[in-house]
Amino acid sequence: MVQGPRRTKRTILARVLLCTAFAVGEVFAVSEVFAVSEGHAQSKVEPTVQPTAEDIARGKALADAGDCASCHTADPAKPFAGGKRIDTPFGGIYSPNLTPDRETGLGAWSDDEFYRALRFGVARDGSRYYPAFPYPNFTRLTRQDIFAIRAYLATLTPMSHAPRAPELRWPFNYRVVMRGWNWLFFKPGILMPDQQKSAEWNRGRYLVEGVAHCGACHTPKNMFGADRRGQAYGGGRVAGMFAPRLDGAERGGLKSWSVEDITEYLQSGRNARSHAGELMSEVVVNSTSVMSDGDVRAIAVYLKDLPAGAPEPKVTPPQPSQMAAGEKLYNGACIACHEADGSGAPRIYPPLPGNANLQSADASSTLRIILDGAQTLTTPRAPNKGSMPAYAAKMTDQEIADVTNYIRNAWGNAAPLVTADQVAKARRAK
Ligand code: HEC
Ligand code: HEC
Ligand code: HEC
Repeated sequence: MVQGPRRTKRTILARVLLCTAFAVGEVFAVSEVFAVSEGHAQSKVEPTVQPTAEDIARGKALADAGDCASCHTADPAKPFAGGKRIDTPFGGIYSPNLTPDRETGLGAWSDDEFYRALRFGVARDGSRYYPAFPYPNFTRLTRQDIFAIRAYLATLTPMSHAPRAPELRWPFNYRVVMRGWNWLFFKPGILMPDQQKSAEWNRGRYLVEGVAHCGACHTPKNMFGADRRGQAYGGGRVAGMFAPRLDGAERGGLKSWSVEDITEYLQSGRNARSHAGELMSEVVVNSTSVMSDGDVRAIAVYLKDLPAGAPEPKVTPPQPSQMAAGEKLYNGACIACHEADGSGAPRIYPPLPGNANLQSADASSTLRIILDGAQTLTTPRAPNKGSMPAYAAKMTDQEIADVTNYIRNAWGNAAPLVTADQVAKARRAK
């Protein structure tokens, strides 16, 4: 009942904002004063120079850091040929072909057209891209780095493959809406180095905010899919998971992780505190585990310097009877691997006390792993296998809620309670 009027208000607000976005979009469409002209003005002065072998190598490293291949590959036999469906809260969108094929890829593009796509989110025909393409992050790349990525992509084998048109809901199916979106939410341009900070910190910021687009998942989004202001790296929902806070929050954030902990996690997919599960394991495999040691450490240094962020939710501890019910289930099903005191075995069975992911305000990722189980990600640095059993078929919604509430609140942990209804929803989401 309390939800009703609030939801109506939100819907009205959403409609008003959408109409505004639409109107703004139309105005820009007519006057063409925005990013395109800016792009043209800048691009005139750029001489065409042949890329060197170093440029191409740097471009490849940046393409790895940006995980371009993940989104732009549907068929592993056709890397970068596009066609992968990217799901957004507004519908599905298919990634384009980035190989140098002239008809269906980037073969006929000029360097400037490529530059405008990454810096301004502007397509060849002047229309705007959807932010499912992380150009709000890629805009932080320097010109030289954008051209280096372009030079690398030009060395790929051309493949003919024309992706399908987007399947987005009204009004997002009109690209003109994105002009309004950009006006409201998109700030193009590079970041000026912060002279108060070390070169390593600045490199870390350049990667995290820019090409590595960590905030695309780890920053909460507003109802239009744009970053919520003032909540950078405050944790975000993505595809039924929760990408935890990366700020300095005590329980659910990275306060208890050292620079070395973060570095090890990004390079190998695990450390003595946690393992990378679904979604993050792809980021580790395709991106952070193949970055240079210096770049990964720079990312860790930057993350460790993020402020504490928004206060964590106040937690009412579960009733002793609830804890007892959860403990009984835990002792029956989980202690064989995680131990009675939750300590597990570092890098084999992640320890649960003090675990940041486990204490996130939003329990989605924890529910996913208990329902579905997991195979431990193996990387060259951590090749031993491991697995967590799935409990979806072994426990009721209430039992999963009880054991989840127990591990989130035992051993000094504290996190909001989950209900059997939330477990039922998570079950249906898969
Ligand atoms: C999270 C998924 C995702 C990642 C990561 C990603 N892209 Fe994309 N990219 C897309 C989608 C989706 C589109 C289409 C957007 C649209 O149609 O509005 C796109 C469009 C593009 C385009 C425009 C192509 C055209 O034919 O119009 C270029 C160029 C591009 N991406 C380059 C890159 C590069 C370079 C990287 C890595 C640095 C990258 N993308 C990483 C999803 C992604
Ligand atoms: C595609 C979405 C996505 C992107 C992009 C992404 N992450 Fe994650 N990340 C996640 C999810 C989801 C988890 C939780 C994984 C789990 O449950 O094991 C996670 C977990 C983490 C954790 C562990 C936190 C904890 O409390 O256990 C760290 C550290 C992290 N990510 C850092 C990064 C960095 C740095 C980047 C950019 C280089 C990044 N992530 C990009 C989705 C993402
Ligand atoms: C057979 C051994 C085994 C059993 C039994 C087991 N787990 Fe796990 N658990 C693992 C492994 C291995 C991982 C790491 C998975 C990965 O690498 O993705 C894990 C991961 C987890 C995580 C994620 C921790 C993090 O850092 O994000 C949670 C939460 C968890 N288990 C809870 C439970 C609960 C609750 C039970 C009982 C209902 C249970 N486990 C039973 C082996 C086990």
